[in-house]
Amino acid sequence: MSDDVKLPDPARERRKQLQALIPDAFSEGRLDVAALKRALGEASVIDGGERYALTWAGKSNAYKVLQTPSTATLRPERDKSINFDQAQHVFLEGENLEVLKVLQKAYFGKVKLIYIDPPYNTGSDSFIYPDRFQESKEDYLRRINELADDGTLMREGLFRTNSKEGGHYHSNWLSMMLPRLYIARNLLRNDGVIFVSCDDNEVHNLRCLMNEVFGESNFVGTVVWKNVTDNNPTNVTTEHEYLLVVARSKDAIEREWKSSISDVKNLLIKTGRDLTTKFKGAELDAAYQDWFRENKSQLWPLDRYKYIDRDGVYTGSQSVHNPGREGYRYDVLHPITGKPCKQPLMGYRFPRETMDGLLADKRILFGEDESKIIELKIYANEFQEKFSSVFELDGRLGTYDLREDFPEITKAFTNPKPIKLLTGFFPFLLKNEGDIVVDFFAGSATTAAAVISLNRKDSVQRKFVLVQLPEPCDEQSEVFRSGYSNIAQISRQRIGNFIKRKIDQEDLATVSPVPVGFKSFILAPSNFKQWRGDGIETPEQLTQQMQIFTKSEKDGADVEHMFYELLLRFGQELTTPAELLDVAGGKVFAIQASPDAVRTGVIYRSHDPAVGSIEAARTHRYRRCVRRLRHTEDQSRPTVSRRRHQIHLSVSLRG
Ligand SMILES: C[S@@+](CC[C@H](N)C(=O)[O-])C[C@H]1O[C@@H](n2cnc3c(N)ncnc32)[C@H](O)[C@@H]1O
Repeated sequence: MSDDVKLPDPARERRKQLQALIPDAFSEGRLDVAALKRALGEASVIDGGERYALTWAGKSNAYKVLQTPSTATLRPERDKSINFDQAQHVFLEGENLEVLKVLQKAYFGKVKLIYIDPPYNTGSDSFIYPDRFQESKEDYLRRINELADDGTLMREGLFRTNSKEGGHYHSNWLSMMLPRLYIARNLLRNDGVIFVSCDDNEVHNLRCLMNEVFGESNFVGTVVWKNVTDNNPTNVTTEHEYLLVVARSKDAIEREWKSSISDVKNLLIKTGRDLTTKFKGAELDAAYQDWFRENKSQLWPLDRYKYIDRDGVYTGSQSVHNPGREGYRYDVLHPITGKPCKQPLMGYRFPRETMDGLLADKRILFGEDESKIIELKIYANEFQEKFSSVFELDGRLGTYDLREDFPEITKAFTNPKPIKLLTGFFPFLLKNEGDIVVDFFAGSATTAAAVISLNRKDSVQRKFVLVQLPEPCDEQSEVFRSGYSNIAQISRQRIGNFIKRKIDQEDLATVSPVPVGFKSFILAPSNFKQWRGDGIETPEQLTQQMQIFTKSEKDGADVEHMFYELLLRFGQELTTPAELLDVAGGKVFAIQASPDAVRTGVIYRSHDPAVGSIEAARTHRYRRCVRRLRHTEDQSRPTVSRRRHQIHLSVSLRG
């Protein structure tokens, strides 16, 4: 309700007057009595002593939430996946904090890039409220079970709008972000980097929070993304948002970020190749000049590549000039006038011998006469994009991109990021085969689209891991009417549609036949019984618990579900190659934990329920392990010791 239509409230009026007079006596809209006293000179001491710190209501509880272990797991959903067995990408449906906890061991220190686009805290967006620390273990288990029944984690009140009037507006957001960022940091490789999208609502807090979680010295930069043009008159017209960039360890990242992927660059190379096969000399020049003039406005950041010769399109670079201090001094003669060319203000950057080599290779560009300082020829194929802190890209492109994947829906998702925003910076980090990018606020899965596009372009197979809550869609919305009841369904569908569209568009003769697909998983309760030590007070209760644990998996637990749970607990990625074999009448999963170690782990389920049923083993040689399993079965007893409440995965055969 706007202030104009609210009933008169004298207390509220006086509060407003006080706030106008002493703004520092209020925090998140609430009166802070200690701050008021300080402002009035009645108390000058700051509680807890003076120090520089970011603090908020609920911060210690946010740390407790972080430390609460998860007993959940990830259950494979083959029917919601594409190309499950070969797929190198992963989509995870579930609440991201829980999912991150489940992933932590398997992905610890393995992720090159994390990109997240969390709720910006605009006052109208919803997120998980940080109230779980109050939860008893019973409640927690119930919640995880609730999740299994209906596929959601929407316990009444847990996921709700954080309004500016709520009193803990910034605190709630910070409490939500803190534990997720902590685990995100654990996932990063030593040379890994996190990019976080945000806007003016929280950029100040986010920067401080990142300093706390990652250390101030690991701050890499803030990117300003100019995404809109707003012609509405106001005070400062906001036409941008931000990307905060922070490293796991700034010392470990490359000193310079350069990307070799650029659509414009590829276009210039191709144009150069086409024209040099058709024309020579002055004709070649003229043909390129025509093309360049016509397309110049779309060639940024290569809009200075205005020349061509038989080696391709090039520009002149001033990199022969010595920047800042006095360089080398010698004469370079103009090839037509024979006179020494004008020298750069601070001399040349290279010694005479290097310059002679460049001249011999025809890499030096002269003006019409000696009055122009010489330049170095840089060909389009040598172009390396720098990563600038200012980026201009129309934000509406995100919606246009998405419409291509959902042509029948006007607005499948609100404010999706443009694919180009992500392909603008992913190549600076994700350069190598197998590099992993994680996005745990996936939304419409733009990160997946960006990774698939890049992979198809340069045939380097990067991998994504996306996490999305099954946040219910508004029942009045067009997407709901189109059959999507939650956002995770939209994300998955988007990835599928995007893959199909890409493959349909491609010339199969030129693209490497790497099968594209993703494995879909859902956050689910563990397949194994949880040891309830807290409720045991008598020897009878203990005996009862132990009897329950003669069989550690839950009734009806599926072998493949158990396999993936154990895989994660072994510390293996969800895309670890696995093979299902029949051994001694039971099912055996052989896994290849690293490319050079052939099948290094096995999980086994006996066909005979009396055996005890589940075994897990780790071995360096698959055959030895299978032999051991056979032997186990002959003796009809499980070999895996159970310590406390878990199967102890310690069988280790050296081969
Ligand atoms: C701003 S959107 C991300 C948009 C995305 N970058 C895109 O281009 O479509 C944030 C997303 O995070 C999801 N989300 C919010 N809280 C979450 C949580 N606790 N776990 C998983 N997803 C969550 C929301 O459902 C929403 O889809």
